[in-house]
Amino acid sequence: MRERLEELRDEALAKVATAEDVKALQEVRVAYLGKKGPITEVLRGMGKLSAEERPIIGQMANDVRDAIKVEIEAKETKLEEAAVEKQLATESIDVTLPGRPVSRGSRHPLTAVIEEVEDIFLGLGFTVEEGPEVETDYYNFEALNLPKDHPARDMQDTFYFTEELLLRTQTSPVQARTMEKYKGQGPVKIICPGKVFRRDDDDATHSHQFMQIEGLLVDHHVRMSDLKGVLETFAKRFFGEDRQIRLRPSFFPFTEPSVEVDVSCGICGGKGCRICKQTGWIEVLGAGMVHPRVLEMSGFDPKVYSGFAFGMGVERLAMLKYDIDDIRHFYTNDVRFLAQFKRV
Ligand code: DAH
Repeated sequence: MRERLEELRDEALAKVATAEDVKALQEVRVAYLGKKGPITEVLRGMGKLSAEERPIIGQMANDVRDAIKVEIEAKETKLEEAAVEKQLATESIDVTLPGRPVSRGSRHPLTAVIEEVEDIFLGLGFTVEEGPEVETDYYNFEALNLPKDHPARDMQDTFYFTEELLLRTQTSPVQARTMEKYKGQGPVKIICPGKVFRRDDDDATHSHQFMQIEGLLVDHHVRMSDLKGVLETFAKRFFGEDRQIRLRPSFFPFTEPSVEVDVSCGICGGKGCRICKQTGWIEVLGAGMVHPRVLEMSGFDPKVYSGFAFGMGVERLAMLKYDIDDIRHFYTNDVRFLAQFKRV
């Protein structure tokens, strides 16, 4: 029996030594140490041994079993370590590889235009005001010298919540709101960008919702030449130093006199082309000297103060500056359109 046990031990250890993976080790374990294995069999046959021999063989069988167990465990650890090592070697990460680029958005062209206009006017000493998009009839019309039933209201039909509450049709109500805030004390030098709403057909150049930037300057001795100087400075900074402006008489109820302001065409340089309809000029905004009644209604004494105001469409500025041919591009959020303004 002694020899049989030694033989089994040598056999098992040899198999452990040559086992190449955990599965092979598991097979050795089952084959030699399992309940139906040869060592258990030896132990079962111990009944035939003498009383002296029995504990010796029993001890020996236990030693052989322990020796095999210890070897299997040691080999198992070795194999596991080797496996980890191999995995580390094959799965190593190259931290110097460039990362996948994260796609970056861009400012919407209308936002870019508003920010640029704000920069220009901040540089001229203006501040930026805001007003509500849901406006009262009073601020949107009456305080701007457009009493109820005034025919000039027809051009600015809009969405009414009640008879007195509506979506503002222009940013001009911020003029009145701001003047009230200043309580009759100038100077007032503000611009106000924001959304406006009108009942309108939606086509390549019209939208029921668009954006405007309003301007208002109220102080002592403000003259038409101040208006012209500010607008010329603006046009040159925004469109380019080579641009000229021209004032044409017009009508707005809240300014007197009123003008339409044209900028010389950037495509033909003023010679006349398809874009400017052969006139050499492109209309960009409305302006004028603040009507004395408007000053008065908002708490400024027209004998002491005078002022000018202007209002321009943001979409129109953007279309002229970036050669955009359809106003609807601004609202459909097609990434192919928006991505063209990454560097603006
Ligand atoms: N609010 C006018 C419009 O929407 C634009 C405008 C014209 C604003 C003349 C002004 C101004 O402040 O003086 O058509």
